Amino acid sequence: MGNVNPTLFRSGPELLHNPLLNKGTAFSLEERDALSLRGLLPPRVITMQEQVQRVLENLRGKPNDLDKYVSLIALQDRNETLFYRIILDHLDEMMPIIYTPTVGLACQEYGQIFRRPRGIFISSNDAGRVARNLANWPLKDVRVIVVTDGERILGLGDLGANGMGIPVGKLSLYTACAGIHPSACLPITIDVGTENERLLKHPLYIGLQQRRLRGEAYDALIAEFVEAVQSLFPDALIQFEDFANHNAFRILNKYRNSVRTFNDDIQGTAAVAMAGIYSSLRITGRALADQRLLFFGAGEAGMGIAGLVVSALMEAGLTADEARKRCWFIDSKGLVVQSRTDLTDHKRTFAQDAAQNSDPLEVLDALRPTVLIGASGMPGTFTAPILRKMADINERPVVFALSNPTSKSECTAEEAYTHTNGRAVFASGSPYKPVNFEGKTFVPGQGNNAYIFPGVGLGVIASGSRLVTDEMFLSAAKVLASALSESELATGRIYPPFTRVREVSTAIALVVAGIAYDQGLAAGPRPADLEAAVRNLMFEPVYNSYV
Ligand code: NAI
Repeated sequence: MGNVNPTLFRSGPELLHNPLLNKGTAFSLEERDALSLRGLLPPRVITMQEQVQRVLENLRGKPNDLDKYVSLIALQDRNETLFYRIILDHLDEMMPIIYTPTVGLACQEYGQIFRRPRGIFISSNDAGRVARNLANWPLKDVRVIVVTDGERILGLGDLGANGMGIPVGKLSLYTACAGIHPSACLPITIDVGTENERLLKHPLYIGLQQRRLRGEAYDALIAEFVEAVQSLFPDALIQFEDFANHNAFRILNKYRNSVRTFNDDIQGTAAVAMAGIYSSLRITGRALADQRLLFFGAGEAGMGIAGLVVSALMEAGLTADEARKRCWFIDSKGLVVQSRTDLTDHKRTFAQDAAQNSDPLEVLDALRPTVLIGASGMPGTFTAPILRKMADINERPVVFALSNPTSKSECTAEEAYTHTNGRAVFASGSPYKPVNFEGKTFVPGQGNNAYIFPGVGLGVIASGSRLVTDEMFLSAAKVLASALSESELATGRIYPPFTRVREVSTAIALVVAGIAYDQGLAAGPRPADLEAAVRNLMFEPVYNSYV
């Protein structure tokens, strides 16, 4: 991988229309002569820096974030090098546009803003010939696939084929945050229908206007997809993204021990939240073994986090049973307890021996949690009384409102700081601006999975690891938490500034690849200089000279 081999390019309009190779007005006069580009471009040669300025001016003049998204995706379709230069140099400004929260809006409007396809669509009508769809992808050295079936897009629910914005966005993050080459990334949407009434009737909906395929036929389609990927793209890592809870756990459990795959909503979220917990302990000065966690939401995110918390607590000396007793859940029906008869197997693992209770304040009184984690998709569930009680119980209450996008957050950053008198250690799923409370500025953390999955992916690719293990995610969490300086912690930050994400991803990749080599999961022998091998894979958005 690394940067594109310039000997592969073609010439003339074909080159201008290949986003991986196109430089637009930055082609030099020599290149224009050699590549039959004379006359196809305006005469003046523009530098990349000038192109960046032009794009930024255009972008900043757009009236809203959705227009900015459309404009950025159009740039990605024209010139990926320039697109990634801009993303990388302006990460804080661009992340909320290419990913949450704007990508959520983009998915909701996907039919209307749809310009040009990107990635592969597989529909339930393709059953029996999925490999043919995949074989149509022109680039053969695929290393990362992000796939969704669109059933649980962020916290927005079933968006069917419109969910394609998510794999596209996540793969942009692989490239921006960990330097996975854009030509090695393949976004895929498996369209099995939708239960979204609006889309079922919408004249511009891009997907199948039918109810979702379920049961054996659905499982067979996923199995066919996984097999086809393994035969056509044997080096690819498959990241499952935004599948609904009932399919996500089943698919993960079916494939995690035999296929190079993971589920970001379960395992990526778990690692980023675990990193937040490790960092918060650096602030509160408490031990992991003393924590009690209360989750609002017992779905993919909540259960995934709790699973990793259990592993971390066991590492800290607790038994599995003791560790599980530290993780309590409230779901849409109240406290998850053993007497309930409506629990899935996953929820049953964490069902506690306690009386049923659906009053969160009473639960807080009884449990006295040190950490409150929101992964319910229900905005406003962390009410002022709940936050105040957390502050009564704890000197430094740890509060993570992880639901995405911003409109679904369990509380805002301002509410978290205000109702706890500025004592909360706070993180959210979508970004919040720094909050000024009684003269002090607090920097809320964004528990963004993009701190984790790109680095994990890079480590898996670098080592050729056969599997992606929970140990890799726990180690990634530790690397992320250790990346914070003391002065950053002092501002309330529990994640490093996102501008340092490439450095963090590289460190995560090294640890992940190291685990693969140590455990016999890697494809070959450990290179003498693993760091150089990892860095060598990383794409830098610069223009290569073609002459
Ligand atoms: P899910 O659908 O699997 O689970 C949602 C859970 O919330 C269910 O257990 C449901 O019973 C529960 N719930 C519903 N109403 C509730 C209420 N009023 N009080 C308490 N619990 C309630 O969804 P999933 O995948 O777990 O995602 C949940 C949220 O977490 C979404 O908004 C998603 O965007 C967000 N998320 C955030 C991430 C991050 O910040 N890094 C990563 C992954 C997910």
